[in-house]
Amino acid sequence: MAENKQLIIYFTSSGTTKRAAEKIQKATNAEIVELQPVTPYPVNYQDVAEQGKKELDSNIHPKIDLNSLPDIAKFDEIFVGFPTWWSQPPMIIHSLFDEVDFSGKTIIPFTTSMSSTMEDSMPYFDEMVSKLSGVKLLDGVRYDNDGNLNNFLKDNDLI
Ligand SMILES: Cc1cc2nc3c(=O)[nH]c(=O)nc-3n(C[C@H](O)[C@H](O)[C@H](O)COP(=O)(O)O)c2cc1C
Repeated sequence: MAENKQLIIYFTSSGTTKRAAEKIQKATNAEIVELQPVTPYPVNYQDVAEQGKKELDSNIHPKIDLNSLPDIAKFDEIFVGFPTWWSQPPMIIHSLFDEVDFSGKTIIPFTTSMSSTMEDSMPYFDEMVSKLSGVKLLDGVRYDNDGNLNNFLKDNDLI
């Protein structure tokens, strides 16, 4: 068991990333919290897609509910999970980095997607952490199955 204090923050629209986050929680025993916008996203796919595209095209960082997040100071390693939208993290992940100071932390991105890879999203993480000091950004993982997840966690000394 890793000695570092670990937190999982995930955003989900239709539940797949929540399930991946729960797999990580089971393997690591980390604290887990869902990142929520102040104004919930629509449920229906077309409407989510429309809103997400509008946010992307206009660089809108939706307001997040900060009350739902614990005190980040307590944690060393932070998993940040999201569904890949248009080959990149949803804009709410930018909101998270706007609002929470992850300086000095290890950030472990994870994603779920139809086919896009974690590599597709990494440049956005590089950019988001570039404003912070002392962040260790791991390459991250696309949840595929329990085997690939567990290998990733072991290879990176996260369990
Ligand atoms: C608005 C939107 C955009 C998406 N864009 C992509 C994409 O670019 N590449 C991909 O592989 N999957 C894409 N998907 C599929 C989701 O990444 C995938 O279904 C994900 O597992 C959903 O996670 P969730 O249930 O946690 O929201 C998109 C889905 C939505 C709703």
